[in-house]
Amino acid sequence: MIVATTGADLREIVKSFAGKKVLVPTMGALHEGHLELIRMARQAAGPHGAVMVSIFVNPIQFDRPADLAAYPRPLEADFPACEGEGVDLVFAPEIASMYHADRSITVTESLLSKGLCGGSRPGHFDGVCTVVLKLFLLSACDAAVFGAKDFQQLAIVRRMVRDLDVPVEIIECPTVRESDGLAMSSRNTRLTAAQRADAPRIRRALQMAAMMGTPAEILKIARAEIGASPLTRIDYLSLVDAETLQPLTEISRPVILATAVFYGKVRLIDHVRISC
Ligand code: PAJ
Repeated sequence: MIVATTGADLREIVKSFAGKKVLVPTMGALHEGHLELIRMARQAAGPHGAVMVSIFVNPIQFDRPADLAAYPRPLEADFPACEGEGVDLVFAPEIASMYHADRSITVTESLLSKGLCGGSRPGHFDGVCTVVLKLFLLSACDAAVFGAKDFQQLAIVRRMVRDLDVPVEIIECPTVRESDGLAMSSRNTRLTAAQRADAPRIRRALQMAAMMGTPAEILKIARAEIGASPLTRIDYLSLVDAETLQPLTEISRPVILATAVFYGKVRLIDHVRISC
């Protein structure tokens, strides 16, 4: 497995790769969810293609400095995890190698990023789009794998690729969960034992609410179930059109019930899709 730490090195190394190049962009602290993305990347690349994983805690997508500072960075475990999955190349750059001190260009998505996580994390998706486009350009990847867990991120990346004619195929990986239903996340390790034991309620609440009839009932049940725990604080709970991500008042097309919930300072997201 090759490790590249600067964009210039990465550009040079990928020139020697034959076959399909598939990138898995991550911020590290790899868990089984990330490993599933890597396996999908291998499937897409084939035995003679190249699987590349980027590990970069992207500072410009964090709206809260404390969240950036607390983000886990266990590189010593991430490298062997990649090696174990047969990854060909890991790109783990320093911040200074990714961003010029006087950088002044940002990629902005102006519709899908308005609500949900974009509503409560201003500038977050500008940071995501900017780094993802840079990673696509540096790695010259043919395809990239993203998790359905971050469905708003996935929709925005698809939109960026469409609107900017970026020649990268976007591959979707279903959400990987713990055995109790909690969506796997690098942030789960920051939960206390009591918070971790309580957190599967998010998924349960969404599933229970999804069986209700009207948007008002769905939102009421989900809010009550998540709010029944003294450990939770709801950041947002929204019912949106699955395509446009815009809020709605009646269900006539597939919709997504999505939430972000704080346990102390740790913010977890999850969603369910409701077909009509
Ligand atoms: P990160 O949170 O590390 O996630 C990297 C990728 O793993 C994303 O595509 C995310 O959707 C996927 N992922 C995380 N948990 C998952 C789970 N439980 N099941 C399935 N997929 C999961 O998302 C980011 O990093 C960053 O925003 C990034 C795209 C790397 C840009 O900085």
